[in-house]
Amino acid sequence: MENQKKDKDILILAIESSCDETAASVVKNGRTILSNVISSQIELHKLYGGVVPEIASRKHIEKINQVIEEALKDASVTLDDLDAIGVTYGPGLVGALLVGVAEAKAISYAKKLPLVGVHHIEGHVSANYIENLELEPPFLCLIVSGGHTHLVIVKDYGEFEILGRTRDDAAGEAFDKVARAIGLGYPGGPKIDKLSKEGNAEAIVFPKAKVNDGPYDFSFSGVKSAVLNYINKCKMQNTPICEADLAASFQKAVVDVLVENSMKAAKDYHMDKLAIAGGVASNQTLRASMEEACKKNHIEFYHPSPIFCTDNAAMIGVAAYYEYIKGTRHGLDLNAVPNLKLGER
Ligand code: KG4
Ligand code: ZN
Repeated sequence: MENQKKDKDILILAIESSCDETAASVVKNGRTILSNVISSQIELHKLYGGVVPEIASRKHIEKINQVIEEALKDASVTLDDLDAIGVTYGPGLVGALLVGVAEAKAISYAKKLPLVGVHHIEGHVSANYIENLELEPPFLCLIVSGGHTHLVIVKDYGEFEILGRTRDDAAGEAFDKVARAIGLGYPGGPKIDKLSKEGNAEAIVFPKAKVNDGPYDFSFSGVKSAVLNYINKCKMQNTPICEADLAASFQKAVVDVLVENSMKAAKDYHMDKLAIAGGVASNQTLRASMEEACKKNHIEFYHPSPIFCTDNAAMIGVAAYYEYIKGTRHGLDLNAVPNLKLGER
């Protein structure tokens, strides 16, 4: 038996542990964030130049109880006040996901609370609902994170039509690899973003990867290889490299394609609202270029604050709310699904 609701507010505790952030949040009625606690492991993984899955899982286990307690405390609620538990169950690192899923199942069982498994990407998209109370589907959404690059139509809450995706590297992955090649360290996206401000984006022309048989698809391995070749060539010829110009030119090649494909999809599908989501959505050049293109094309542009772009549990709580009111429930047999496809339940 599900707990009787004490009033009409719906309170959801959400848990996110798919990669290197242990996060918990309490969300009221799907759009009000009562708490948003994020324990980042970045400092730890920096030492290795990227996320080490085994270390990530162990750190999640160490942190998760503390993060949940803090989220409940910040929201001034207890487990007894909750209506449901939302948790990311895929895609992501299997060992990392399992920590959140096991924790959510334990709370669900102990407190007889409904369990709602959430797709991580549905979470990223839902971050846009937090600060844009008027935003409702349908809209076009570009999701650009460390593991994913998708262009989708959000037809309804939790309902997606995938128009395009990356054929190789994700956008964030390309940022991270290029940053590593120029010695900026992990995670590379924010560092390239910052360094680019001092550089000339027109200095080096890198290829804008177009995919011939997929008008909305992306490919970033070509531009990444072009950057690596450029660095090698300069080294062989003993030519000094201006890292800021390199960063700015690479960033432009990526951002231009993201904006061009998004605008083409918006026109072809007559969409007048466009949102961006995922870690790379906090990139300042992407935000500015997309805003300008949207303005030119009379499209309303939405983007979450940077704290809701990178991994967090508030976005999972928002997605869980819309799944909850639709009737989505998972049993205690819920498992982590590392390669969960968007739209799968
Ligand atoms: O969404 P997210 O936190 O995790 C995944 O679900 O993958 O995204 C992390 C990715 C990393 O690749 C990081 O380098 C990139 O987002 N990122 C950025 C920026 N901030 C984070 N990329 C470009 N510019 C940024 N400002
Ligand atoms: Zn993410």
